[in-house]
Amino acid sequence: MSFNPLFSDTLPTVPLNIHIIRQEFPFFQKDNRIYLDSAATCQTPKYVLNAMRNYYTEMGGNVHRGINSQIEVSSNAYEESRNKVALFLNANSEEIVFTKNSTESLNLIANAWARKNLKRGDKIVLSILEHHSNIVPWQILKKEIGIELVWIDCDEYGNLNIDDYKNYLKSGNVKLVSITGQSNVLGCKPNIKLITALAHSAGAKIIIDASQLIVHNKIDVKEIGCDFLAFSGHKLYGPTGIGVLFATSEMQKEMTPWMGGGGMILEVTKEDFTKAEGPSVFEAGTPPIAQAIGLKAAIEWLEKYSRKEVAAHEEKLIEHAKNILSKDKRINILGKNQSGCISFTIDGVHPHDLSDILSEKGIAVRAGHQCAKPLHDHLNIGSSTRISIALYNTEDDINAFGKGLEDALKILLPTTSS
Ligand SMILES: Cc1ncc(COP(=O)(O)O)c(C=O)c1O
Repeated sequence: MSFNPLFSDTLPTVPLNIHIIRQEFPFFQKDNRIYLDSAATCQTPKYVLNAMRNYYTEMGGNVHRGINSQIEVSSNAYEESRNKVALFLNANSEEIVFTKNSTESLNLIANAWARKNLKRGDKIVLSILEHHSNIVPWQILKKEIGIELVWIDCDEYGNLNIDDYKNYLKSGNVKLVSITGQSNVLGCKPNIKLITALAHSAGAKIIIDASQLIVHNKIDVKEIGCDFLAFSGHKLYGPTGIGVLFATSEMQKEMTPWMGGGGMILEVTKEDFTKAEGPSVFEAGTPPIAQAIGLKAAIEWLEKYSRKEVAAHEEKLIEHAKNILSKDKRINILGKNQSGCISFTIDGVHPHDLSDILSEKGIAVRAGHQCAKPLHDHLNIGSSTRISIALYNTEDDINAFGKGLEDALKILLPTTSS
């Protein structure tokens, strides 16, 4: 069993009993749900739902706006959430900006930092593994201010071509590198520490899209050394509507607010405004208060368990799925070192047809280009099917998927055999 070197496992834990854990999820108390789409969004434990309910029933105030006891208790809870996220990432609280999701975090960097600091001819390096959320914001900038995008390709297993990357860096003018920590299609994990060190040695800044990585790995931003890091709460057992942008204090000094409104100013006159200090400059308007509190609860909930044990459990499930899939020669598994998810194609079967049949059996999988169309183009495939797992999945889920797949293929490929 191999473990990610980024793990540190120092927190107190309770034993990992998946059957007890499932009971903590209202979602799994209904029907016989086989949920294998957690890379899209995770299910939410009662602990998180209760924390959000507690905000609405017991706190009920806005944050950082005027003085009353509701505001005070709500502001404290909101800031405690920021502190919790900071601890979780080994960051400082002032380096944590709350957003709506990873997508907003990445767009925030594009608008609040890159738009101001980059100019025509500057280069941004992306990898071919990226999710559309880490592509389109840069394509918008390309159209609007004339920056160039350069791409690191990967081999069939998802290994990035680091020599290409080094050559881009040598060619000059690379100002930013934005890279996923874990592919949402192939489940592979680029060497983000190496990629970060190389970016910095060429004078470029670096963003890590940790949307998938954070679910399956302990993250330490100081150890990685990145300038920015983004993730969404809803993939980490938290609610929708909350995302995180880690931006170092140094980078924040180079950023200008991209949205104006309440909460981000010190003073406003008819002529002008002065901006507030710290991360709230990038949190204009009433923030997602209940959701931030829910995210704190999600982290507390996850930290009850040993992340090494969680990873071992998840690795076992992926291995089991891989064994089932590789027994059928009609199935082409994408990639090699999968973590958290496994994608595949089947000649003659459209993933939408397959997922439709599985869905009728109560089995949720993802089908399509998975918001990673350039990667699919690179692999010469139009679309794929993905199963993705979280801590609450069991071997029975994977077996049910295997049986569902076998039955579906009897309908979709009646004349071929496994
Ligand atoms: C790697 C990666 N980046 C970014 C995103 C975007 O996340 P969100 O839709 O929560 O903003 C996803 C979502 O699947 C993802 O997998």
